[in-house]
Amino acid sequence: MKTINNRTTNYDINDIFLNRYSPRAMSGESVSTEELMTMFEAARWAPSSRNEQPWRFLYAIKGTSDFDLFLSFLLESNQTWCKNAGVLSIGLSKKTSSDGTVNIKHSLDTGSAWENLALQGANMGLVVHGMGGYNEEIIRKELQIQNDYQVELMIAIGKPGKIEDLPEKLQEREKPSQRKNLDEIVFEGKEGANNL
Ligand SMILES: Cc1cc2nc3c(=O)[nH]c(=O)nc-3n(C[C@H](O)[C@H](O)[C@H](O)COP(=O)(O)O)c2cc1C
Repeated sequence: MKTINNRTTNYDINDIFLNRYSPRAMSGESVSTEELMTMFEAARWAPSSRNEQPWRFLYAIKGTSDFDLFLSFLLESNQTWCKNAGVLSIGLSKKTSSDGTVNIKHSLDTGSAWENLALQGANMGLVVHGMGGYNEEIIRKELQIQNDYQVELMIAIGKPGKIEDLPEKLQEREKPSQRKNLDEIVFEGKEGANNL
């Protein structure tokens, strides 16, 4: 059992899982190429079905027209704080395998890669915040994303900022969240399936 960030575990897991959370306060400072690529490197080493590695990441750096374009894809509620990110990324997955068949695990595997990226970034002291709040239709149209690729999430990456600089409503939410209990998510055997 341990407590970090006001999060208490029943078992002694690595601190990295408790230290990672999704802050919104970012300073607007840039994220270096070294830092960014280190995070994508971590994503690269995620496991995947048949080692298809279906994850793909696009990124845009603050100060470029691409950053402004990526920012415009986000819902306004996300734009308010994402404007201070150093990098905005779009995570996508390839829906077909290298042999042309449908890869039904493309989303699952890309989720693993995204989590690797998030844990690596958090471990480096960066803010890494995944988002589903964007307009997919506009992303697909503006970037001419082909049908074989699914847009999975957008990711804000930045240097930590001051909570006071966030809108008041978001200041209250700027804390590590809690989780369901283990017995709500883990069940033993056939009998356990009745408890899902
Ligand atoms: C796929 C995905 C979509 C999310 N969408 C948003 C979003 O649009 N806006 C937002 O502020 N947070 C978003 N989040 C952050 C979640 O709310 C957050 O991960 C969750 O509350 C757990 O908190 P924690 O990451 O701080 O542990 C998203 C996270 C994921 C993984």
